[in-house]
Amino acid sequence: MKPLVLIGGGGHCQSVIEVAESCGRTIRGILDVPAEVGREVLGYSIIGTDDAIANYAASCEFVITVGFIKDPSLRIRLYEKVLAAGGELATLIASTAYVSRHAVIGKGTVVMHHAFVNAGAEVGENVILNTGCNVEHSARVGNHCHISTGVMVNGDCNIGDNCFIGSQSVLANAVSICNDVLVGAGSFVRKSILKPGVYSGNPAILKIKR
Ligand SMILES: CC(C)(COP(=O)(O)OP(=O)(O)OC[C@H]1O[C@@H](n2cnc3c(N)ncnc32)[C@H](O)[C@@H]1OP(=O)(O)O)[C@@H](O)C(=O)NCCC(=O)NCCS
Repeated sequence: MKPLVLIGGGGHCQSVIEVAESCGRTIRGILDVPAEVGREVLGYSIIGTDDAIANYAASCEFVITVGFIKDPSLRIRLYEKVLAAGGELATLIASTAYVSRHAVIGKGTVVMHHAFVNAGAEVGENVILNTGCNVEHSARVGNHCHISTGVMVNGDCNIGDNCFIGSQSVLANAVSICNDVLVGAGSFVRKSILKPGVYSGNPAILKIKR
């Protein structure tokens, strides 16, 4: 397996390093903004900026390690920059995560410690399945989503692209969520969400239009 280059050296990067080390991957280094070059994150050097992606495209695989709560656009821009440079995105599954052999996980997606992905689930590309979340049977998660810590995506749910689901939120069975939705932490999504925006509470209701 090729070594990894991680793109983004903040807090989420530390969590991804934990995952990468647990599944035996070698980390070549981290790319970040110019002011961060030379700094270390958990013992790994920031070796350049994202303008250096092409230099590593042949010899390494990439993981986008900037986090996302309110706005996925930086993660999407970096993902597209890797593909434009001819780079490959790595899929990482933590040693303590469980992914059914009947599930599909897209490129660039990181399944973090103690996450659980059940049979028939389909998870897109460049997704964060964060620590301890649960994606139940036959659920679908679109590209560039962040299913954050401890979330319960119940069976047959269908989450669109670019969505954030806040910590410890619960989606009732077979709920659909359209693209570009943000669900606040600790919410219960009882009915499908058909319009982009920020939703929260129990039951989750629209708080901020987008
Ligand atoms: C949803 C969130 C992003 C909104 O943040 P924001 O844009 O700064 O919005 P505000 O805090 O101004 O809240 C807007 C409204 O939503 C409500 N709200 C926000 N988060 C809420 C939540 N988790 N549960 C219930 N209501 C919530 C606020 O009370 C406010 O309602 P009001 O207009 O009736 O007063 C933030 O509250 C949140 O939940 N962040 C996620 C944290 C998390 O899960 N991190 C995971 C890291 S892995």
